[in-house]
Amino acid sequence: MKKVEEIINKIKNNIFEKEDVLYALNIKTEKEFAPFFQLSEEICEKIYGKNVYARGIIEFSNYCRKNCFYCGIRRENKNLERYRIPYEEILKTMEIIKKDRVQTVVLQSGEDLKCDEFLPALIKDIKEKYDIAITLSIGERPYEVYKELKKDGADRFLLRIETTDKELFKKLHPDDDFENRKQCLYYLKDLGYEVGTGVLIGLPWQTTESLVNDLFFLKELQPDMVGIGPFIPHNDTPLKDFKNNDIFMTLKMVSLIRIILKDVNIPATTAMGTIDPYGRQKALKVGANVIMPNYTPYLYKDKFKLYNNKICINENCSVKCTEIIAKYAGKKIISDKGFRKKIFINN
Ligand code: 5AD
Ligand code: SF4
Repeated sequence: MKKVEEIINKIKNNIFEKEDVLYALNIKTEKEFAPFFQLSEEICEKIYGKNVYARGIIEFSNYCRKNCFYCGIRRENKNLERYRIPYEEILKTMEIIKKDRVQTVVLQSGEDLKCDEFLPALIKDIKEKYDIAITLSIGERPYEVYKELKKDGADRFLLRIETTDKELFKKLHPDDDFENRKQCLYYLKDLGYEVGTGVLIGLPWQTTESLVNDLFFLKELQPDMVGIGPFIPHNDTPLKDFKNNDIFMTLKMVSLIRIILKDVNIPATTAMGTIDPYGRQKALKVGANVIMPNYTPYLYKDKFKLYNNKICINENCSVKCTEIIAKYAGKKIISDKGFRKKIFINN
């Protein structure tokens, strides 16, 4: 316990050391980690109060040109019907999101270049018709494409780095390049997007040291949002036999991200809720301040399965469900575009 107090004191004086973060991530019991949870909750409350931002997500295409070993919609998974939601149907879904007073839409897809043909028009259309913030989560593109989509009206972009362990990155991404992915994040920052990134927790072969490096990478990048989640195996992938039941490591990471990066937006993600029925509630209690109700039309929902047993694929998934989750964590959803509140917090 004394060691934890010592580390917390250093952190409060803005001294972050790798060995301390490693010590924290290696803690085995919630009781010993409690002072970190308490600090992250306090920081979150100072910035965002008890408020939670909702982002309505539409998974509009499950085509993907890539073959990431962990992902259920990887190119080589033939055991899956592919879809692209027609333009008009996406707009119809926007009506539902607006009616629920959700003020951000996240347009998510596999890395599907075909979508670039309609995305500019779609973004402009959404911006014209609705007073809503647009987040894109569509993968890697050249600078010029990011630039065009920003000009069309996109506000934010999510691109997880997935892991900063270069060896591990290479092992899991047969057709991706770490440096290129990182470059994309810096392009997005340059272009004025609010940038979200994040990592997977509990990947096969991932070490705790590499999670420490992930945290220091995030500190250096200074993104506006950090979305993380546990790795969960998918039956139709090469990693199908790697188990992961550990929500605690993900919660420790949420807490440390809040403590180190302070005012960033941190979502309680669907993967957290999949690995543990109270995963999202727990995350909201230790530093997360965002939740993403799934508005993908029912017909397509079960085809965007990135991992086994993904939740939120039932018919009546909406902001109402996330309101209950927030309430359980002692918080409430507010109708707000949910931009990052840039506040300097000195612990
Ligand atoms: N388990 C957990 N998260 C996954 N993702 C992809 N596959 C899995 C999996 N098996 C995450 C990746 C990606 C995001 C859209 O989904 O981190 O960036
Ligand atoms: Fe495609 Fe993204 Fe899945 Fe990789 S993680 S296969 S890029 S959808």
